[in-house]
Amino acid sequence: MSFTAPIQLPGLTRDPLWYKRAVFYEVMVRCFVDSNGDGTGDLGGLASRLDYLQWLGVDCLWLPPFYMSPLRDGGYDISDFKRVLPEFGTIDEFRDLVRRAHERNMRIIMDFPLNHTSVDHEWFQQSRSDPEGPYGDFYVWSDTDEKYPNVRIIFVDTEDSNWAFDPVRRQFYFHRFFSHQPDLNFESPAVRDAIVDIVKFWLDMGVDGLRLDAIPYLYESEEGNGEGEPKTHDFIKELRETVDREYPGRILLAEANQWPREVAAFFGSEEEPECHMAFDFPVMPRIFYSLRSQTATELVRILSETTDIPGAGAWGVFLRNHDELTLEMVDEEYRQAMYGWYAYDPRMRSNIGIRRRLAPLLDNSRAELELAHALLFSLPGSPFLYYGDEIGMGDNIWLNDRDSSRTPMQWTPDRNAGFSTADPGKLYLPVVQSLVYHYSLVNVESQLAQSRSLLHWIRNVIHTRKAHPVFGLGDLKVLPTDHDSALAFVRSYAGTGTSTGLGDPPEQVLCVFSFSQNPIAFTITAPELAGAQLTDLFGGARFPTIDEQGRVTITLGTQTFFWLKVVLPQEPATTTTAIPVLPPAPVPVR
Ligand code: GLC
Ligand code: CA
Repeated sequence: MSFTAPIQLPGLTRDPLWYKRAVFYEVMVRCFVDSNGDGTGDLGGLASRLDYLQWLGVDCLWLPPFYMSPLRDGGYDISDFKRVLPEFGTIDEFRDLVRRAHERNMRIIMDFPLNHTSVDHEWFQQSRSDPEGPYGDFYVWSDTDEKYPNVRIIFVDTEDSNWAFDPVRRQFYFHRFFSHQPDLNFESPAVRDAIVDIVKFWLDMGVDGLRLDAIPYLYESEEGNGEGEPKTHDFIKELRETVDREYPGRILLAEANQWPREVAAFFGSEEEPECHMAFDFPVMPRIFYSLRSQTATELVRILSETTDIPGAGAWGVFLRNHDELTLEMVDEEYRQAMYGWYAYDPRMRSNIGIRRRLAPLLDNSRAELELAHALLFSLPGSPFLYYGDEIGMGDNIWLNDRDSSRTPMQWTPDRNAGFSTADPGKLYLPVVQSLVYHYSLVNVESQLAQSRSLLHWIRNVIHTRKAHPVFGLGDLKVLPTDHDSALAFVRSYAGTGTSTGLGDPPEQVLCVFSFSQNPIAFTITAPELAGAQLTDLFGGARFPTIDEQGRVTITLGTQTFFWLKVVLPQEPATTTTAIPVLPPAPVPVR
């Protein structure tokens, strides 16, 4: 499929806070497009669909690992950090992808799993066979498997210890994840230097940032639980200094699946910053909880807790990604409720989480998909989409582990969903052929052809968000309502304009959501907004004015939302609301 619509190539903007306004899109190279018919997606294939991603409104791609790897953990098990897995392409093709993305003002961040390597890595092979050699202390070796007793096991489905015995060195090595992924020993200065060297290798290639995979786990100690130990934070601070000094404008993104305060620690402080961004693991499961419990209480609670982060920091908000929907950061009672609603078949579970895609989780309910995305695009932070969720792709729980939601992207109703011309049996994973999500029904081409499709809806919301900097740059304040099913918050942005140099106007948007499975009316109380005019951000329609006491009653249909522009009485009255004008949909050519 190619696009005939002319696409502008504006080049990269120089906004140092670009990541605060950006819409991110996670795409595994393996899963998107196979350009040479060998059954596996590749860099050339991904580059051929940049027009589609630009049309959708994506500002930055997040690429999970495409390094040399035996692929026993989806590429998170790396055997050479400076080579591309040949079936994915070459370093030159990667450089070309970065160049072509940058021409479109699209950035690329890549995964950097620095906590561990594959057992196949040359460092490990040397370390196990030559304990006195230069790589002897590159991993965490011990004569017993009893060190670090407070460290929890993450992959509870497959591992019963964080230690594995190596018959060559005749010692145990430490591993936070699979036993074929030994942890690097960050106590060794040589390891730290090797890691910084790899960071520079990729940033020199023009990459716009790194997702620091499994970042809490770099250091272990006897007293601690091996999650965000002080030395881990010290290492990230140093890394940040290097990046700021030598590669300004590039970002570090923390993957820290922890409780709010602990995740926030990975931003560091104003004086000693660590990561520019961190995934919002605490808020994600609470979105799913609200949808089924029909109450906003959990979201209200977590959004009302103020977690201070440095001014330049930004959360990464997501609904799904390439991993299981993790339930590690919810209490047992909620976890059991979530399993009951979302993973009623044991096959749907994985470790402490649920290995399903977004659309099947929400039982393909269009209302719930829209509501979930409306939250994704209006909560504080930058939204991360997972490839295929924009068309409501399904999953395949008969596949192993997290492969259930890593199946080929569905482009067309043709052979292999237009992903590949290979013999269907040769695909790295089969395309989804289930009753509801079969690729002949769920694919980009058919959704481009329907103006009311999920794809067009999501694109419209993305472009609306992008027309209003308040979503990326503004504060959030939760407003009290008199209904448990209603969530109301106001996003406010003073409009300094420093980030673009073009001068953003100040702006306030009232966002209201209903989780109820029936229509509701509710009253919001916001004395600071007394007398304000409300207009719908999408269509510009006038809503009831907030009264002198700061109250307004809103009616919402089943599981729906409004984004309302707020104009205070003292502000100049706006008669028209900016409605983003989208370029026409590209015409797919087959
Ligand atoms: C991260 C990745 C996950 C991987 C793990 C071990 O959590 O997101 O996919 O299995 O690290 O590398
Ligand atoms: Ca290929």
